[in-house]
Amino acid sequence: MFNLCLNKVNRLFSPLVGIDQVLEKLSTVIDPDLKKDIVSMGMIKDLELNDGNLKFTLELTTPACPFNVEIEDDVRKVIGEMSEVKNFDLNVTAKVMEGRSLDEDTAMNTVKNIIGVASGKGGVGKSTVSLNLALALSQTGAKVGLLDADIYGPSIPLMLGMKDGYMEVEDNKLQPAESHGIQVVSFGFFAEQAHQAAIYRGPIISGILKQFLVDTNWSDLDYLIVDLPPGTGDIPLTLAQTIPITGILVVTTPQDVASNVAVKAIGMFEKLNVPIIGVVENMSHFICPNCSDKHYIFGDGGAKKISEQFNIPFLGEIPLNSGIMSGSDLGKPIMITSPESPSATAFKTAAKNIAGQCSIIASRLQEEMASENTTEESAPEASTSN
Ligand SMILES: Nc1ncnc2c1ncn2[C@@H]1O[C@H](COP(=O)(O)OP(=O)(O)OP(=O)(O)O)[C@@H](O)[C@H]1O
Ligand SMILES: [Mg+2]
Repeated sequence: MFNLCLNKVNRLFSPLVGIDQVLEKLSTVIDPDLKKDIVSMGMIKDLELNDGNLKFTLELTTPACPFNVEIEDDVRKVIGEMSEVKNFDLNVTAKVMEGRSLDEDTAMNTVKNIIGVASGKGGVGKSTVSLNLALALSQTGAKVGLLDADIYGPSIPLMLGMKDGYMEVEDNKLQPAESHGIQVVSFGFFAEQAHQAAIYRGPIISGILKQFLVDTNWSDLDYLIVDLPPGTGDIPLTLAQTIPITGILVVTTPQDVASNVAVKAIGMFEKLNVPIIGVVENMSHFICPNCSDKHYIFGDGGAKKISEQFNIPFLGEIPLNSGIMSGSDLGKPIMITSPESPSATAFKTAAKNIAGQCSIIASRLQEEMASENTTEESAPEASTSN
């Protein structure tokens, strides 16, 4: 009873806090990826302040951001420093930013980010990385699609245990298949045609990819991962030229031969003005099951060299692991069968870094669009007199 009264008295005499002060305090919290404060990034929503009782939603830029916990902790810390705030109710959500201009792409405006997975050389693990990254992103709560753009040799259906999978056509649109919560499109679902793929020529191959991209009924997706065939042929070129994409993720192995050809792929995408999201090194090292030491069997630092040479982010290293290979062969990806294993953890780390980079690209895009709008507004109107 006495305590209750004392609380009331304290509340009567404690200084009142205003919304401006709360926002000022929150603007000291900086998103480490975007290097901007969370207030100007519009991450604070539905703020209510009533007699020292504070409530708001923190809307993060992606559920997979590597700094989500850090940002939330910083928010709680700065609000905790405000003695005037008596109760604090924080709701944390995430809304993935658009890493591509949806206005420019009405055909695929339900897909916020498109990530092409490319390499210079074949067999470095693009399909393995694409699939496990898609699953890792999906496990954070993001809505994810996976497009197997390797029309010559589609491997995703097998890796997902969907040998007999198929896609239906409704209203002239392909309906993606579903597996482990992700939407999947692959030429491999057209079973009887698959063995003929090698004889298709460039324009037909490009046409098939275009259809897979724009004539598919993708539901709202945060990320669409596009698994490309190796090199700089028709398919990677078509992807880069058909629709605006968020960027390209380059996969390489540590050997010089793989990283040297990866450089060619990077060169092509840069020439086409497609952003490079970063580089992931696959089969990077072997973790000894007995001593847990890392052994760099194929050499060390191939992807890091590329990242320094081109000034592009290094986004992760995936160990060489027989579980990854057998999981793929059996149609049971490691992200599903052993989500806590070191290999799955490596995929999760890479996925978070990739999501972080997509947010950075999205934020740059927003700035560019805002400055274009300002330039348009301030440009003198064209004279209509004759
Ligand atoms: N980290 C890894 N550890 C062990 N095996 C791996 C790893 N990554 C990929 N593999 C295996 O290496 C082989 C090639 O992988 P994958 O098919 O993903 O490569 P790719 O780059 O997509 O090939 P392609 O250029 O033919 O499309 C597969 O057998 C796969 O299971
Ligand atoms: Mg492949």
